[in-house]
Amino acid sequence: MIDITRPIACITGMGSAVPEGRLTNAELEKTLDTTDEWITDRTGIRCRHIARPDESMLSYTLKAAHQAMEQAGVTAADLDGIVFATVTPDRRLPSVACDLQAALGAKPAWAFDLVAACPGWVYALSVAEGMMATGLGETILVVGAEKLSMITDRDDRNTAILFGDGAGAGVLRRVRPGEDRGILATYLGADGDLADLLYIPGGGAADPFTEEVLRERRHYMKMAGREVFKAAVLAMSRSSDEAIRRAGMPPESIDLLVPHQANLRIIEAAAKHAGIPMSKVFCNLDRYGNTSSASIPLALTQAQAEGVLKPGMIVMLAAFGAGFTWGSVVLRW
Ligand SMILES: CC(C)(COP(=O)(O)OP(=O)(O)OC[C@H]1O[C@@H](n2cnc3c(N)ncnc32)[C@H](O)[C@@H]1OP(=O)(O)O)[C@@H](O)C(=O)NCCC(=O)NCCS
Repeated sequence: MIDITRPIACITGMGSAVPEGRLTNAELEKTLDTTDEWITDRTGIRCRHIARPDESMLSYTLKAAHQAMEQAGVTAADLDGIVFATVTPDRRLPSVACDLQAALGAKPAWAFDLVAACPGWVYALSVAEGMMATGLGETILVVGAEKLSMITDRDDRNTAILFGDGAGAGVLRRVRPGEDRGILATYLGADGDLADLLYIPGGGAADPFTEEVLRERRHYMKMAGREVFKAAVLAMSRSSDEAIRRAGMPPESIDLLVPHQANLRIIEAAAKHAGIPMSKVFCNLDRYGNTSSASIPLALTQAQAEGVLKPGMIVMLAAFGAGFTWGSVVLRW
């Protein structure tokens, strides 16, 4: 590992937005062989926001981006770049990051999408920090947004209960002399051997869209829930151990853990492993479900709005997801 002097970058504004449509456990009871009690006990999720089929992901992402920029006190002209983490872009080409750049009027900021599933925003934050370190920007918009309803099979009780739509954004800017805040440590990892635990079999270049793909519902996510659960607890534990080690501080120094919002039981197991009490863990998955790369920025925005996340706090972000991918960040807010 190369030694670098941190902090290089800090988050100066956060924003989030979700589509208006809501899907409660009671509504899922009507279409699936499941119950509110089962979903709440096994996952902690009570409700998710679901976009209309004709509602673009960009429409709610724009709101999140504007909110983050307003809080950071920057305009579109100040942006040097946009990193957009998503697995559900509005269209295949060009990147949704370019659509966002145009909609914001942020020309000629560089813009690209990043595919890392649920730790997407943690990956994007790390990539943006690296780009700042190499002189590619002073102010970078880091977005995590999804329209997971597009790839979720509403007839599959295994996955339909978990996922929701949403967007989150953060403005990352170079730390100024004398400022005592910013990213202190990052850690990313992946294990491609576990790809088939959570994947979409059809509709890609290797198995292009055909009527058969649609008929067999191969364009939807397939998940081995129990195996994902086990791998997730391991990945979250590893991520938090490594982030804490790299930050060079004991677990007691963490004031707030903002984990990927997938399942309350996974979060509880990971927090216990890290030695962080649940009173220091922010959760909002009861209201939004798992929104993949939007989950952490959505939670950060809400934690800030509720006064739970305060300036000066040491915050740890930890996430895992399809790939398998995982990652963590420790920062002083
Ligand atoms: C999917 C998940 C909630 C299932 O919970 P679980 O406690 O592991 O449940 P199991 O898969 O062991 O199933 C237990 C029973 O509940 C049933 N079941 C599964 N889904 C159900 C549902 N929605 N409603 C009611 N019963 C359900 C199973 O069929 C099984 O029945 P059986 O015992 O008769 O065979 C859980 O495994 C999970 O959250 N995994 C991680 C998923 C995740 O986070 N994915 C995103 C990664 S970013």
